Amino acid sequence: MDQTRIIIAIDGYSSTGKSTVAKQLAKRLNYIYVDTGAMYRAVTLYAMRKGYIISTNLNKEALINDLDSIVVSFEINTATGLGEVLLNGTNVENEIRGLDVASHVSQIAAIPEVRRKLVDLQQRMGKDKGIVMDGRDIGTVVFPDAELKLFMTATAKDRAERRYKELLESGEEVSYEDVLKNVVDRDHLDSTRKDSPLKKADDAITIDNSNLTLEDQFDQILALANKTILNTQ
Ligand code: DC
Repeated sequence: MDQTRIIIAIDGYSSTGKSTVAKQLAKRLNYIYVDTGAMYRAVTLYAMRKGYIISTNLNKEALINDLDSIVVSFEINTATGLGEVLLNGTNVENEIRGLDVASHVSQIAAIPEVRRKLVDLQQRMGKDKGIVMDGRDIGTVVFPDAELKLFMTATAKDRAERRYKELLESGEEVSYEDVLKNVVDRDHLDSTRKDSPLKKADDAITIDNSNLTLEDQFDQILALANKTILNTQ
């Protein structure tokens, strides 16, 4: 008998390792992985390139009027087997990861028109289930009926250290203080915005990974996924 395919929604604060565990899980279950943060980052990159964001000034009106010209999609990198984000047909996976995009993305993600466009696309991506999606509002707004919802958390210090290491490894010159500030500022903006703020769904399971190894965390989450799949048959 074919196994039931479910939707796994992973939400949580920035740099809690959501995408690492989501990718591992999707690979193991042979599911599609969708990084929704990458979609908000791609729209942010578009706004920066078009001059709609200059320093801290955002021309919201101009971006909203131009939303129909933005096409966000994914392609599989055949070397890694993972999806990478495309902005109007061009792979921007590297460009969206820098601190520059990270420092503006929460502003863009707070715009209801942007959210409506991306949530609609995310819901279409999940219509056949068999998907692991990570973000901030997946269990609350995008898939309120997801069979398994996880909410990931860790201390800001642990998360900033993780992110700082990643940025250094990718060759970006940043200070730890700037990374910590970005993590704290984004958490604040993401949790206090009016439209779809980051919050734990009532039926989500909290995973605090401050003191968990990646292996332990993965084993714990895989066990939850397998149990949910069995119970959904
Ligand atoms: O997961 P990430 O750090 O790549 O996400 C980038 C930003 O996008 C984050 O600061 C909040 C926003 N975001 C969101 O509002 N809703 C989502 N579903 C995913 C990300």
